[in-house]
Amino acid sequence: MDKMWSGRFSEGASSLLDEFNASIMFDRRLYKEDIEGSLAHASMLQAQGILNAAELTAIQDGMAEVLSEIESGMFEWKISDEDLHMAIEKRLTAIIGETGGKLHTARSRNDQIAVDFRRYVLRKDREIAQLLKSLLEVVVEIASKHTETLIPGMTHLQHAQPINFGFHMLAYASMFKRDIERLEDSRRRNNVSPLGCAALAGTPHNINREMTAATLGFDSVSVNCLDTVSDRDFALEILFNISTMMMHISRLSEEIILWSSYEFGFVELSDAYSTGSSIMPQKKNPDVPELLRGKTGRVNGNLISLLTVMKGLPLAYNKDTQEDKEGVFDSIDTAELSLKILAEALKTMTIKADNMAKACQKGHLTATDLADYLVQKCGVPFRETHFISGKAVARAEALGIDVSAMSFDELQKVDDRIKEDVMPYLALKHSMNARESQGGTSTLRTMEQVVQFQNYIEGLSL
Ligand code: ARG
Repeated sequence: MDKMWSGRFSEGASSLLDEFNASIMFDRRLYKEDIEGSLAHASMLQAQGILNAAELTAIQDGMAEVLSEIESGMFEWKISDEDLHMAIEKRLTAIIGETGGKLHTARSRNDQIAVDFRRYVLRKDREIAQLLKSLLEVVVEIASKHTETLIPGMTHLQHAQPINFGFHMLAYASMFKRDIERLEDSRRRNNVSPLGCAALAGTPHNINREMTAATLGFDSVSVNCLDTVSDRDFALEILFNISTMMMHISRLSEEIILWSSYEFGFVELSDAYSTGSSIMPQKKNPDVPELLRGKTGRVNGNLISLLTVMKGLPLAYNKDTQEDKEGVFDSIDTAELSLKILAEALKTMTIKADNMAKACQKGHLTATDLADYLVQKCGVPFRETHFISGKAVARAEALGIDVSAMSFDELQKVDDRIKEDVMPYLALKHSMNARESQGGTSTLRTMEQVVQFQNYIEGLSL
């Protein structure tokens, strides 16, 4: 009967209940947030005359000891203490005596966990954005070196039009930039203090919520206590943000896996980020991008899990909510490790520009340019030029060559409005550089985009 809430109970808890009910095995990760929250709360209670100066000092000293016990590994985390809040308060009281019991005045574990978990998530919003920034730097650096490196641009995984590899990488830079913005949006929106909401309805004690909010670095105080103690939107947002980010990482991973195959041969991962096979001596496997792709499934599961936990809950706090933490911790850990390893794998990846260029010679990448030529030089409606170019492709196929390698004579047989000045239009580099419209793939436009991303990175204060 050593439970803090055992006043109305006459029988002790079964050990099965202890195990089932406890969150201490995983919520202990929030110990710093919990202690900081308690110290902010205690200082406020003293400022409001609810604790005296000696009581506050005792709490502060006791908490310092609890903190050092936790950080040195001396603290005893017991499943029978249920969660970190009770374990820490119990230890504090053991150290400083009954003053420890005054700390929970005007507070409940409901607002306590809401503060701890929210602050942890807000911190991680930032830290993940910082890691994304490092990844973005690597991606933009690669792009800046490859604004002239031709690669087949694809749709439906079929050769479409020639683009440059820098342009391709900047598509991912665009995604990662939005991922940073989403995390920052979430952090701003959710930077609201739950402390002082108590169990659900507020408190009769004369507290100062503005004060604890400011101490803990919140921008403001939440408006409605009933909402505040049951709201887990902030956790869902980080789960969604991580899922979206991992979906982007997974798409890039999928391309790296394809590109490192013999069939493509566009890139080679460094030995440090590849693995071998236990049976086939020749193998060099892209385990890193494969795992990144796989782990994306796992973080998606965490998002759906919490959405499902939350969807049927009546107001306000319900114990179901305790199920919010493990998935969030798992997604955060996965995101952090994934971002670090992806940045390293990209940094050390060899780009095989020759193979990329060779691949551009297949698939009639400049067929659209032939149609565009007839529009621009001969005033033929695009719908008709599309058909003419299609016939040229069919002729090239019959000859066993690429449209870009067709002779002028052959082209004229397809349509006699085609003149000799068509030839540059069929060249791959010309085609890439012709796409000069805003956001297009021409080397100049790509360099412009590189500068935009560099400026964005430079202006980021995270
Ligand atoms: N361990 C609990 C959780 O994570 C803390 C809040 C408990 N509140 C309660 N009324 N039982 O949700």
